[in-house]
Amino acid sequence: MTKSSAPGKIILFGEHAVVYGHPALAVPVTQVHADVEVLEASRPGIWIEAPDVDLQSELNTLPSDHPIASVVHNFLFISRLSPFPNLAIKIDSTIPVASGLGSGAAVTVALTRALSAHIHYSMTNEEVNAFAYEIEKLYHGTPSGIDNTVVTYTRPVYFVKGQPMETFRVGQPFTIVIGDTGISAPTKESVGDVRKLWEVAQQKWEDVFDQVGKIAEQARKTIENGKWEMLGELMNKNHSLLQEMTVSSPELDQLVQAARNAGALGSKLSGGGRGGNMMALVEPERAESVAFSLKEAGAKQTIVTQVL
Ligand code: MEV
Repeated sequence: MTKSSAPGKIILFGEHAVVYGHPALAVPVTQVHADVEVLEASRPGIWIEAPDVDLQSELNTLPSDHPIASVVHNFLFISRLSPFPNLAIKIDSTIPVASGLGSGAAVTVALTRALSAHIHYSMTNEEVNAFAYEIEKLYHGTPSGIDNTVVTYTRPVYFVKGQPMETFRVGQPFTIVIGDTGISAPTKESVGDVRKLWEVAQQKWEDVFDQVGKIAEQARKTIENGKWEMLGELMNKNHSLLQEMTVSSPELDQLVQAARNAGALGSKLSGGGRGGNMMALVEPERAESVAFSLKEAGAKQTIVTQVL
């Protein structure tokens, strides 16, 4: 039997603008993860079980564009193993789906690694990352590649689309609280809507994306210098620009405001927006009370995590 696990991720700064070539910062969130087990099946076929998404089927009975089936089909294609062994694949994930925490990328990366280990088809991180990016493209239209990169390398990432992976140093660890609106919002839709805005007023939106990119640059320096208290203001500014892009929502704004009222140093939505998650920067001793206030303001789940 082979097993593999991949973490969730959260974007600290720069979502959406990153699709247009501006930098973004993202970090792994190891409190949530996708776990995959692959073993030899006693019956013919490739059997996939994923209780979180109510899936229990043989590969060939699934539509070929099913997200999990397409990972397996594409893996079979690249590994060129024929005939393929009978397999039982079990996928468990604690990462909420379509929430901005990278659940799709984590399942793809964990599944790819578990399959490649099982059949002794060795893949480097670069190969796993490139493979996961191709899968992201099938489901997210025009993804930047940030999700698969953070999830593959499990490191803080300074990401610019199309450029080699670059990590950044965290001068002093800091604490964030993540709050989930519980509303699933496919990234593809918000990314597509931002694209429509950009298509009709490119210069205006390039300016907005540029401002976001500058915030991400400044945030990187601030984090590297260990001045994390100063990130709060940058988060608030980044959130306003995301509101301008129409990717916030009343529920996200409510959680963002509740965190600030409860003493967070700053807060913003994170990921595709419209639903999914927001995050707040907190002094460590305030983490639990901010998490409590987020729950009171409607968060379905909260995660306190340290960026190291
Ligand atoms: C999604 O986690 C982040 C977005 O910037 C889309 C992308 O980068 O592909 C909204």
